[in-house]
Amino acid sequence: MTAAHPQPAPAAGSARSLSAAELAAVRADFPLLERTVRDGRPLVYLDTAATAQKPRAVLEAERHFYERTNAAVHRGAHQVAEEATEVYEAARAAVAGFVGADEDEIVWTKNATEALNLVSHGFLSATLDARLGRGESATSERFALAEGDEIVVTEAEHHANLVPWQQLAARTGATLRWIGLTDEGRLDPETFSVITERTRIVALTHASNVTGAISPVADVVAHARRVGAVVVLDACQSAAHLPLDVHGLDVDFAAFSGHKMLAPTGVGVLYGRRELLELLPPFITGGSMVEVVTMATTTFMPPPNRFEAGTQMVAQTVGMHAAVEYLHGVGMESFAAHEEELTRLLLDGIASVPGVRVLGPTDPVDRLAWWPSTSRGCTRTMWARCSTTPASPCAWDITVPSRCIGGSASTPRPEPQPASTPRLTRSRRSWRRWGV
Ligand SMILES: Cc1ncc(COP(=O)(O)O)c(C=O)c1O
Repeated sequence: MTAAHPQPAPAAGSARSLSAAELAAVRADFPLLERTVRDGRPLVYLDTAATAQKPRAVLEAERHFYERTNAAVHRGAHQVAEEATEVYEAARAAVAGFVGADEDEIVWTKNATEALNLVSHGFLSATLDARLGRGESATSERFALAEGDEIVVTEAEHHANLVPWQQLAARTGATLRWIGLTDEGRLDPETFSVITERTRIVALTHASNVTGAISPVADVVAHARRVGAVVVLDACQSAAHLPLDVHGLDVDFAAFSGHKMLAPTGVGVLYGRRELLELLPPFITGGSMVEVVTMATTTFMPPPNRFEAGTQMVAQTVGMHAAVEYLHGVGMESFAAHEEELTRLLLDGIASVPGVRVLGPTDPVDRLAWWPSTSRGCTRTMWARCSTTPASPCAWDITVPSRCIGGSASTPRPEPQPASTPRLTRSRRSWRRWGV
């Protein structure tokens, strides 16, 4: 399945942005963008960081699967089941190729949140097993946590890459620490010293869903490697916007969601380094992930199937396959170049709007193309989506995919809470940092 639009030819040695004709062709691939909103105005959709619209190729792939190939995978002996298994595994291979992984290092999950929980629960199970004096010693060595161990996150995390680690720390007696942010919302290198000999896990976002700031992953990985910590990358925002190479980044785990990268909802991915997946205890147990089951005991399949219990989301993986082919067809480098150009234009333009201040990096390099901003005219609850009168500098649908600092494009931002938990304290500090 390839996108029905002209293929941009990247300039030698560097990607170029999309031409007007290519952009129009891309837009025409998305049926939802044909609709109008608010009294017949053309839809301008700027909430892709929350969830992306789907190109026809993805919709058709899913429909075709249900019309021609629908069956349970990895268990039927009939032809349709064999074909369903083939397309399920072909999707895995396509996603592996898209992110620079090997096929057996790609685990299907419901979304990025589940993928991150799969890893944190693996640590939890290994810890409980070790404390009960059972479990493989290699697993305990890698994943069992002891009191005094530390888990490092960053202040830029989405809840999906913060709460599971908070929970893991609370249940194991480990301590949660975090890398701070600069005033522009970038990871502050001066706080990388929180990674010490006690650090067992470093979990960080590749790109902030609030500011678009891209994390210096190589620097953080270098610190983590020095102390033998496992690195977990939340690639939820980067996977759809940047060429991603998980082996090149040298991370141990990476998580992302299909729905943010043109694929259907209900499918996500956990990348895991093969030797770690082999040692990681299963998360959800039941059918589809077992070898031999007696009334008393069970042996588990090797990865990735060990982590795919129950009836799999086959149609969604087929949609994911079509999505990565679509992204590949247009070219991730071209998307990235186009977004950088858009960022430049918007940052230049917005600087001249009275009363609007950009939150996050003002340099278009190493940041993705979304723009949290604040304006004097906007109340707290209107912070993310500034609906306004014509006289106001804010415009409809200049939105931010913001959750981390207490607001969201679609939900009112909560009023500051008493600083009774580290999370709330962080929100208050972040608001204060940016003066909103
Ligand atoms: C950076 C980041 N990580 C994780 C998530 C969680 O994604 P999902 O809700 O698809 O699991 C999001 C969603 O907005 C995100 O932006």
